[in-house]
Amino acid sequence: MAARRILLIIGGGIAAYKAIELVRLLRKSGHIVRCVLTRAGEQFVTPLTLAALSENRVYTSLFDLKDEVEMGHIQLSREADLVVVAPATADLMAKMANGIADDLATTLLLATDKPVLAAPAMNVRMWLHAATQRNVATLRGDGVTVMAPDEGEMACGEYGPGRLPEPAAIKAAIDKALTAPAILSGQPDFAPANHRPLHGRRILITAGPTHEPIDPVRYIANRSSGKQGFAIAAAAVEAGAEVLLVAGPVPLPTPPGVVRVDVETAREMATEVEAGLPVDAAIMVAAVADWRAADTSSQKIKKDSSGQVPPLALAENPDILASVAKSAQRPPLLVGFAAETNDVLTHAQAKLDRKGCDWIVANDVAADPMGGETNQVHIVSKNGVHSWDRLPKEVVARKLMEKIADELDARIPSQSD
Ligand code: CTP
Repeated sequence: MAARRILLIIGGGIAAYKAIELVRLLRKSGHIVRCVLTRAGEQFVTPLTLAALSENRVYTSLFDLKDEVEMGHIQLSREADLVVVAPATADLMAKMANGIADDLATTLLLATDKPVLAAPAMNVRMWLHAATQRNVATLRGDGVTVMAPDEGEMACGEYGPGRLPEPAAIKAAIDKALTAPAILSGQPDFAPANHRPLHGRRILITAGPTHEPIDPVRYIANRSSGKQGFAIAAAAVEAGAEVLLVAGPVPLPTPPGVVRVDVETAREMATEVEAGLPVDAAIMVAAVADWRAADTSSQKIKKDSSGQVPPLALAENPDILASVAKSAQRPPLLVGFAAETNDVLTHAQAKLDRKGCDWIVANDVAADPMGGETNQVHIVSKNGVHSWDRLPKEVVARKLMEKIADELDARIPSQSD
């Protein structure tokens, strides 16, 4: 790849040391790197180290630019082909999302007309906080590519998403951005935020299985992987929606910009779904367990010598979709999913009536076992059936979002139109 100019903004945080390796990798590929260190970033890496590795002057404050003849802040922000923020702290992203320019880094980010790539790093709670997720959604809406943070143990001892992606992964994202500017926004067909089809819409999605405990070590579950529901959540954010994802126990990373609430049981899922209303559309992708153990034991159930098998009495779980359909806060568009093993369309039609939703997205899990990467779905509504080809789950998700956007526009014109 031809040498490119990268403006690397290094925020404060324990992960800032990884920026040193990133500079080394970028220089090794022949790129020209200019580093800007925030005041907090200076606590973790020194300008001298970065200057030595980048073989370029390092900027730390607006006063470094007082000689505007040599290099003004507008010029510094625009001479680059790509602006990279790594680590992008919660504070830095909050400022970026709100157009605050109170130091050199944020002034450059506001002044730039170049694509921006942010690699977040922060404590797991800070990453999951609704404020940060809102900021990530805003930044993506503004066309900034926000990488998903890595998941793992944090310097503070907690565990979860929030670790800075490895320098090699950031370098790969930079290479991708440099070779394909059109995908910098993270959208296949980027449009400004307020032109996105679901801009201003709030969407609730359930995904994954539920686990219904029998005793502290055993539970009832099903084979749902959560992949289709998570892909739908990601596609909804891409389409500009504000997304609440109520997820059963699955080890999938949270798509950037999605607000995720984790639950274990059907009853917890029902509570969180109710708390998430009102929304413009609810898409119930979760494979909710129909039954739970009627009695859960607080201690592990032990085998006894009699050879008698303990009875497992079941109780029916609440039907979340049917309850939402009947609630006073019923969303204008309510979509259910149905994984069937036989008579797919007949069962889907029956479910549509029984549950009181607007569409059922049905798929044949005999032909297409749960957990795969593709899906062949039929959208069943009172107007008929639309069948799509077998497609990757991400593509199904995007097509579904287009259909939902059209339907919402027909039912309730967006206030931002
Ligand atoms: N669903 C729900 N709450 C339940 C069961 C299902 O919200 N307790 C939702 C699912 O998220 C899905 C739709 O209802 O959107 C259909 O789920 P499915 O399991 O296929 O329907 P069931 O009512 O369980 O029907 P059956 O098991 O008899 O096929």
